[in-house]
Amino acid sequence: MRKLHKQLAAGAMVLSISLLSACSQDTVKETAKIKLSQDDSKVYVGFSLDTLAEERWYKDKDAFETTVKELGGEVKTLAANGVDSVQIKQAELLIAEGVDVLVVVPHNAEVSAEIVEIAHKADVKVISYDRLIKNADVDYYISYDNKKVGQLQAQEILKKQNKGNFAYIGGAETDNNAILFREGAMDVLKPYIDKGQIKLVYDQYTAEWKPETAESNMKQALKANKNDIQAVIAANDGTAGGVINALKASGLKIPVSGQDAEVDGIKRILAGTQTMTVYKPIQAIAENAANIAMKAGNQEEIETTATVNNGKIDVPAILLDPVAVTKGNIEDTVIKDNFINKDDLE
Ligand code: BGC
Repeated sequence: MRKLHKQLAAGAMVLSISLLSACSQDTVKETAKIKLSQDDSKVYVGFSLDTLAEERWYKDKDAFETTVKELGGEVKTLAANGVDSVQIKQAELLIAEGVDVLVVVPHNAEVSAEIVEIAHKADVKVISYDRLIKNADVDYYISYDNKKVGQLQAQEILKKQNKGNFAYIGGAETDNNAILFREGAMDVLKPYIDKGQIKLVYDQYTAEWKPETAESNMKQALKANKNDIQAVIAANDGTAGGVINALKASGLKIPVSGQDAEVDGIKRILAGTQTMTVYKPIQAIAENAANIAMKAGNQEEIETTATVNNGKIDVPAILLDPVAVTKGNIEDTVIKDNFINKDDLE
């Protein structure tokens, strides 16, 4: 609304109202769509984020918005604080404001299918960003090789500890990525589990990816196993932080994985309490997504490199490569790429 007032005051608002109709004859519903952009000729992109809870999403937001603008588009981002109904309402709002394309980081892989339906009725294409929207006619999907993320986590932990009792502290089960991270990790652990060399004594997803929940789950795991746990695969740096708090309280120092190359995660790697993290170059996903969004908005052809089945269709996709970061390559990865500022680590 603030933007609207500003534009009205400046007398610069371009208002284009078009009537949209639903595809089926008997359910024809007409919606007024008002393009609230300063320049009607520009592609207007909506970015719908589940959350800004983790550090990475600020980077995604910044890089995505900057690239859309550089490519000549306009962009508006809304974050839903992890509430499905809010995310759907915000998507509706963006559509009503006349976005040409919607880029969505879904809170819930299944529930967000509704956003795709609503968007398509308004002739707005949907790009699934980082997390896959399941069972919907999603137009494009841009992410990382998420199974590989889980594989890297397990591989690095195995280099430090390849036998004994392991705990798996996952992400939010409502996030398709959390399922893929776990699958990737289990693929790597399976031969060791089959041989009896490793025993998975605790295996839990973490509701809403909350570090506090990861901490209390880890405490429960330690209690149930009388502290006899030799390694933990935690799905991201947030959950790793929770796990490491629980370990500290029990006086244990064992290998723990993470993901996202957050400042705190890197600090813990330097301090020796966390074994690894996974660096996913945010600039690359944001730029690719902005590119696809602008092309989709201009009805241009879009090149993808993979397809990912989401339970309904094979979604044209681009999957980027994640990188394992340990003490030995912090300098050559996240510092070199300016993903992390060295001063922030002091
Ligand atoms: C992302 C991770 C992030 C997690 C929690 C996942 O879908 O891929 O990078 O840590 O969500 O927001």
